[in-house]
Amino acid sequence: MPVSRRGFLRTLTAGTVAGSVAGWAGDALVEAATLAARPERDREGVLLLDSNENAYGPSEKVMWAVQESLSRANRYPFRDYDSLTEDIARLHNVKSNRVVLGCGSTDILRLAAAALLGPGKTVITASPTYEDLATYSKAIGAEIITAPLTPTFAHDLDAMLAKVDSKTALVYICNPNNPTASLTPRADIESFLGKLPPTVYVLIDEAYHHYVNASARYVSFLDQPAGNERVIVIRTFSKVYAMAGLRLGYGVTEHVLAEKMRSLLTDVDLNCAAVAAGKAALADSESVRNFVKRNMDDRQEFFNQAMARMLKPIDSHANFVMMDAHQPADDIIDHFRKNKIRIGRHFPPLTHHVRVSLGTPAAMREFWRVWDLMPNSKMSM
Ligand SMILES: Cc1ncc(COP(=O)(O)O)c(C=O)c1O
Repeated sequence: MPVSRRGFLRTLTAGTVAGSVAGWAGDALVEAATLAARPERDREGVLLLDSNENAYGPSEKVMWAVQESLSRANRYPFRDYDSLTEDIARLHNVKSNRVVLGCGSTDILRLAAAALLGPGKTVITASPTYEDLATYSKAIGAEIITAPLTPTFAHDLDAMLAKVDSKTALVYICNPNNPTASLTPRADIESFLGKLPPTVYVLIDEAYHHYVNASARYVSFLDQPAGNERVIVIRTFSKVYAMAGLRLGYGVTEHVLAEKMRSLLTDVDLNCAAVAAGKAALADSESVRNFVKRNMDDRQEFFNQAMARMLKPIDSHANFVMMDAHQPADDIIDHFRKNKIRIGRHFPPLTHHVRVSLGTPAAMREFWRVWDLMPNSKMSM
């Protein structure tokens, strides 16, 4: 039986709320239903502030596209790949042969490692940074070389450059950086690119691009390419587009490397729902604007609450915040776990910092309520 758009959304909203009632406290339920009706707790009732997901999405247009795609689930999805690739190519004003689609941007990290690295090769990353590239690189026998972030939590590009040698095949720059939510200035990255030997590729991970505060220090390498053939830029649909569960991401690089990366995929890697959702998400710029605005408000409120407790978070350009808690991160993580809230794991060498993904206002009120229960929370002041 055909489902009307409005009927489907009504069913979906009712189902989502009913399915998550067990995990919701009263006002949280009402508030989330008003905002977007997305569950914020897992099946055990644990509040999820640990994986930098978008608490409000996906947008209704994306959910509708997923529902509509299911009627084609009997067919292989590859017929729709070109259309999504072309949408992405058009968005970034590049030829479509430079775009590589992946099952999440994690897949693009894996492909970059597989295409460029192996035994005897090294990849240079910051510490701490997002670790999946290092994980895959290690799995295929490459060596990981790390350089600590600067005191302002930017990539220490001079230190990274000093570690480049004849074995270096790849450098990873996560901007904004996960877990610190901090920026590495565009001008510094450009000057770094100019000093690298021509054999070294640089992967710039822009997973949190949409959340960056307007700043002259940041310009996306997709919005303004560096004119450097050895740059790979990756983006994900898991953050602002709120599609972490659907698994979709992409990379943009020069066409020879793009072709090599594609050759390491199967012909039918992405499912029909992810592809349909991706197309709908790219076309739904109004929802992106709304998600970004909500994140700005939530982030500001987090800073207000943190500062009221004399805490000093790192300036955040993402949908999560990292702050020095002045006590072992493991103790805090444990305290929150006991109170049914999951926050980010600890990120050595920042052993006293905690990373908190931003949730809805109700979720964050619960976060601060539990924070204030910590026996030595006053000592943080
Ligand atoms: C910086 C960064 N890159 C890539 C990813 C992977 O995202 P996904 O595989 O969901 O696209 C994440 C996930 O949190 C991330 O933080």
